[in-house]
Amino acid sequence: MQSEKATVLVTGGAGYIGSHAVLALQQAGFEVVVLDNLVYGHRDIVEDVLKVELVEGDTSDRALLDRLFASRSFAAVMHFAAYAYVGESVTAPGKYYRNNVLGTLTLLEAMVAASIQHFVFSSTCATYGVPNQVPIPEDHPQNPINPYGATKLMVERILADFDPAYGLKSVCFRYFNAAGADPNGRLGEDHHPETHLIPLVLFTALGQQDAISILGTDYPTPDGTCIRDYIHVTDLAQAHVLGLEYLLKGGDSQTFNLGNGNGFSVREVIETARRVTGKPIPSVERDRRPGDPPALVGSAEKAQAILGWSPQYSDLSQILAHAWQWHQNRHG
Ligand SMILES: NC(=O)c1ccc[n+]([C@@H]2O[C@H](COP(=O)([O-])OP(=O)(O)OC[C@H]3O[C@@H](n4cnc5c(N)ncnc54)[C@H](O)[C@@H]3O)[C@@H](O)[C@H]2O)c1
Repeated sequence: MQSEKATVLVTGGAGYIGSHAVLALQQAGFEVVVLDNLVYGHRDIVEDVLKVELVEGDTSDRALLDRLFASRSFAAVMHFAAYAYVGESVTAPGKYYRNNVLGTLTLLEAMVAASIQHFVFSSTCATYGVPNQVPIPEDHPQNPINPYGATKLMVERILADFDPAYGLKSVCFRYFNAAGADPNGRLGEDHHPETHLIPLVLFTALGQQDAISILGTDYPTPDGTCIRDYIHVTDLAQAHVLGLEYLLKGGDSQTFNLGNGNGFSVREVIETARRVTGKPIPSVERDRRPGDPPALVGSAEKAQAILGWSPQYSDLSQILAHAWQWHQNRHG
């Protein structure tokens, strides 16, 4: 059972979504230790903003994990650490299988050895591949179309086997497009390189790139551009706290979609960003990118029913306003 100050290890806590989860965990009364190799994470966010202990290391370092797990009692592990560039996963699949699958397997084996039985995992809508229905429910077939999605599906399969074998209970969250930033401006998205639409639109608003590319205008959608489900990162973080509390109360292993249930097209995102920022944000129309499904929208009814989760910031203008506040401070 959860004590007042149960300790949670957050891997990838120096990254975008992980750092927001650390903040939500602190607000919910948990002690947090971050494990991050800082390949993409930001030391200043962990040490100066979140002010939690940072263990600089890799999830594939079994000796480090054994020392860490022997040093104190962890109630659970929240696992955000992974590589997440879809395009790179196609050209360098080994790098992705090694980090996302083998790194996670090493972590899980160390947890089993240390009798840590609760695990919250960042999975992705990319495990579904090209959907045959939207909104996508959790029981939709999983046929990933890139190695990144395949690595996450493999971890889901490992977790399904670790539960009956070792009693390791897990919550897998399949996120749609994480977006936005801490409403109070403390944290936000800072990927290098950046590939996500909203930050790239905002870099354009800041004048740091000339135009935003619209990749495909002939999709079978109302305005011809791709539709995606943007979920505010603070809502994602809150779902992680609820998922953790669910496990600590003895809940069974579960998988949940985390999305808004609402899709927005690329053109709608750019138009809304023009309104929110008051900047012209030039755009250029380009060819489709291979492998982009026309629409990806998730049904989050299961998370609402079982975890009592409901997104607080589902309005696209609000998501963009929070991201814009962060971008101006961090990158302006
Ligand atoms: N951003 C999205 O829209 C989105 C959507 C679906 C799923 N996800 C998943 O959510 C998680 C977090 O995504 P993010 O956008 O915050 O990414 P991010 O790159 O900002 O954060 C990942 C963090 O993990 C660290 N890391 C990577 N491999 C590591 C390892 N082996 N050992 C220790 N640290 C390691 C990185 O340094 C980084 O700080 C990832 O697992 C990603 O696949 C993200």
